[in-house]
Amino acid sequence: MESLKESIISQKLPRHIAIIMDGNGRWAKEKGQDRLYGHFHGVESVRTIVEGCAELGIGYLTLYAFSTENWDRPEQEVTGLMELLVETIRKEVDTLNKNNIRLHVIGNMEMLPAYAQNELNEALSLTSKNTGLNLVMALSYSSRWEMVNAVKNIAIDVKNGKVDPQSITQDTLQQYLCTSNFPDPELMIRTSGEYRISNFLLYQLAYAELYFTPVRWPDFSKEHLYEAIIDFQNRERRFGKTSAQIEQEDGDADQLVSR
Ligand code: IPE
Ligand code: IPE
Ligand code: MG
Repeated sequence: MESLKESIISQKLPRHIAIIMDGNGRWAKEKGQDRLYGHFHGVESVRTIVEGCAELGIGYLTLYAFSTENWDRPEQEVTGLMELLVETIRKEVDTLNKNNIRLHVIGNMEMLPAYAQNELNEALSLTSKNTGLNLVMALSYSSRWEMVNAVKNIAIDVKNGKVDPQSITQDTLQQYLCTSNFPDPELMIRTSGEYRISNFLLYQLAYAELYFTPVRWPDFSKEHLYEAIIDFQNRERRFGKTSAQIEQEDGDADQLVSR
C-alpha cells in the first residue's frame, strides 16, 4: 500500500477531487442484505477517503451523497439515508476539527427535514475556521437544479439593476453556482461501473479527468483512491490546445522554476 502512495507525485495532485459514490445498493444485495446496510457501510468508505485526501493534502473533496432525483426512492430508504447522513455528520464533527477539515454543503437544503438542516448548519459553523481539506457534501443536489437556481437569481439581480445583462460573463454565472467558492474539480471518480454523470456538477466538470471503476463504493479503499490519482497524473490535460503547446508550456514552467 505504501508503495502505491509513494508513486503519487505530490506537486501534481488534483486540487479538487469529486466523487459519485455509487453502488451501495448493489453491494448490499450481493450480500443478501437490504439497501440501507449498503449505505451504512458506504459511510465507512466516506471516512476512509476523507482521511486519505486529508493525508495527501488535497484541497477540495466533493462527495455526491444524495441527488435531487434520489428523493423519488422508496420512502423507507430516503428516511433511513437522511438519518444516517445527519447522524454521521454530527458524530464526525470532532474528528473533522481534529483534522482541520472544513465542511461545506451544496444543494437544495430547503428540501431537507428541519432537524437535518439544523444539524448541518451547526456542523458548518463548528468547522468554519478550519483551513485544511475542504469537504463539500452534495446533498439534495443536482446540476440542473443548481443552474435553474442560478438563472433565477441572475434574473432577479438584473431586474433590481444589480447586474447589467450585457456584462454577464462565465465568471458571473460561476458566482451564482453553489460552488462559487471552490475551484473546478480536476478529477471525477465514479464507483460501481456506471459510465454516466447523473446530474453532478455538469458545468464544473467541463475539463475534469473522468475515472470510472467497477469497485462498489463500500469497497472503495485508500488504495483505490491512490490508483485513481496516479491515473490522473499520467494523463495529458490539453484544455483544447495541442500536445506540442502543452509540452512547450511545461518546458517554460520548468525553466522558470530552475532559474
Ligand atoms: C449510492 O449508491 C448512494 C446513493 C445514491 C445515495 P446507490 O444507492 O445508488 O447504489 P446502487 O447504484 O443502487 O447499487
Ligand atoms: C448518483 O447515483 C447520485 C449519488 C451517488 C448520490 P444514482 O445511483 O442516483 O444515479 P443513477 O440513477 O444510477 O444515474
Ligand atoms: Mg446508484
